[in-house]
Amino acid sequence: MKDWVKSNFKNRIQAESLDKSQIGKKVFLSGWAFRFRDQGGVIFIDLRDRSGIVQIVARKESLGEQFAVAEKIRSEYVIAIEGELVARDPEAVNPKMKTGEVEIILTSIEILNISKTPPFSLDEYDASGEEVRLKYRYLDMRTLELRDRLMLRHKFIFALREYLDRSQFLEIETPILNKSTPEGARDFLVPSRLNPGEFYALPQSPQIFKQILMIGGMEKYFQIVKCFRDEDLRADRQPEFTQLDMEYSFVDEEEVFASIQDMMVNVFAKVFGRNIDGKFPRITYKQAMEEYGSDKPDLRFGMKLHDVSSIVQNSDFQVFTAAVESGGIVKAICVPGGASISRKEIEDLTAWLGRDFRSKGLAYMKHGANGLDSAITKRFKPEELDAIAKTVGSKEGDMVFFGADRAKIVHASLGALRLRLSEKYDKPDPNELNFSWVTDFPMFELDDDSKNWIALHHPFTAPKSEDMHLLDELLPGKHPERVIRAKAYDLVLNGNEIGGGSIRIHDEKTQSQVFRILGIGEEEAREKFGFLLDALAFGAPPHGGIAFGIDRIMMILTKAESIRDVIAFPKTQKGTCMMSGCPTPVIKSQLEELKLRTVTI
Ligand code: AMO
Ligand code: AMP
Repeated sequence: MKDWVKSNFKNRIQAESLDKSQIGKKVFLSGWAFRFRDQGGVIFIDLRDRSGIVQIVARKESLGEQFAVAEKIRSEYVIAIEGELVARDPEAVNPKMKTGEVEIILTSIEILNISKTPPFSLDEYDASGEEVRLKYRYLDMRTLELRDRLMLRHKFIFALREYLDRSQFLEIETPILNKSTPEGARDFLVPSRLNPGEFYALPQSPQIFKQILMIGGMEKYFQIVKCFRDEDLRADRQPEFTQLDMEYSFVDEEEVFASIQDMMVNVFAKVFGRNIDGKFPRITYKQAMEEYGSDKPDLRFGMKLHDVSSIVQNSDFQVFTAAVESGGIVKAICVPGGASISRKEIEDLTAWLGRDFRSKGLAYMKHGANGLDSAITKRFKPEELDAIAKTVGSKEGDMVFFGADRAKIVHASLGALRLRLSEKYDKPDPNELNFSWVTDFPMFELDDDSKNWIALHHPFTAPKSEDMHLLDELLPGKHPERVIRAKAYDLVLNGNEIGGGSIRIHDEKTQSQVFRILGIGEEEAREKFGFLLDALAFGAPPHGGIAFGIDRIMMILTKAESIRDVIAFPKTQKGTCMMSGCPTPVIKSQLEELKLRTVTI
């Protein structure tokens, strides 16, 4: 590297900071040769650094031997240049470029490193070749799209830290080598060399530690923290993901809601330039399930689920009457303008709902000039049809779909249908930011397989005071009709669960009672969470908290299709890293040190 380059690194100017106000200035830049055009005697190079792009002009007549260096440049060569900033000729101004009014007339240039030809174009982000992009993630990162996402993510996390520091929260780190934590997913395990046959679990969240921090008197805690869950991956899930984890002492639900709303208003204004209304609407879990068929309802559009059981229970349509007789329900949704949905489309929808949601069919009626009409309408009295139309609010040109089954199946299938059809028939505004709290989650849910109670959030969640008495004498799997509401809440943004938390149990007695209901015996509770139970006995303050999925929030804000698009080094759907190739087998000596042997089952 030549001396003029080394001595100039400290004077490095960012490409995108250059504009007309600096014309005439001598500038030094270093970065990558993004595009180049050799027009015989003149070479145009777009130099790209982290800030953006600026055009460099190399002229043979004025450069002398330096021109030969410019001629050697190819895509993605690393270069350092010096030159004079000039205004472009009016006809050469490029309004699409931020620096499109200026260019740099080259005086010196050095190639700092050469590059192989990239395996894909860095001009424009294109999700199609994702595997190759993930393999060469460092090249992908040079695209403006990924760069922008990573920069925005940094700004978001920085603003959160700033806000929380101002609000007296302490960021405290918690261990990664851990005992198993209770978020309900599968653990990633790490064998212990010093304790052969024993394992650490990577944290699914810092849940127990943050509660212990409250017992330790830390009052307000947060952490931007990696969590690890060995789950089946989806578009919005990664095996390792980042949470903003928070816990407060001396709060009930209202304080948590108010504090989070204030945080979101502040941070969203600062980072995303969005003014959001700081009073997020609330919907109970029960209402969300009944009206939207989802515990994370997208409230940006209608197409609600309406209960028509009482209207149809005496009709001649056996599918509906049988469902009601056997304790189920019949619900309907109205698709505005949906009368044009073809029979073939309905068949496809019916098959999909049957396959993925175990629904037994998808009855439908079109709303025509004379009201509801279809092959099944003859089984209903005119007043029943009128009552259905009135209840669902249908008008000419709409389509009404029905689900008849156990409530769980009806809600899940019509909820999914609602989301799917909204894309075409009730499209939400993609720029809207619709926050809502879902509250009053049930404490327990009956596990379909074991028929035992399982915790819907986690077993440290406190019951609603009004429902406290229902805990009495509740035993594993008994009283399936009992719904005990918890002080548990989720924050939903545009139909995505971006955060969840609860007020915690802070007395040992209730905690033991909940373990008993969950079928966690005293010995097991001690073995798993003994350290928390011990701590609860030493003056635990009332406390509660919440955790947000940072990746999910970024995904929504950048309108990314996949969570991978907002993570620097994500894993694939199969949990692998395309770049490093992990997971990989380990060498024999490593296993020997751990006193482990692998057997493929
Ligand atoms: P929960 O399990 O609801 O709560 O997680 C909080 C938030 O983390 C995000 N999230 C994920 N994001 C990406 N990939 C995943 N695999 C993944 N799993 C969860 C979601 C979710 O809302 N300890 C409790 C919080 C508390 O009670 O305070 C917890 O972890 O956006
Ligand atoms: P069938 O009597 O099976 O021919 O069904 C008549 C219509 O009712 C068809 O459109 C089915 O898709 C629909 N259907 C059947 N079972 C259900 C159900 N459980 N819920 C809603 N629609 C159903």
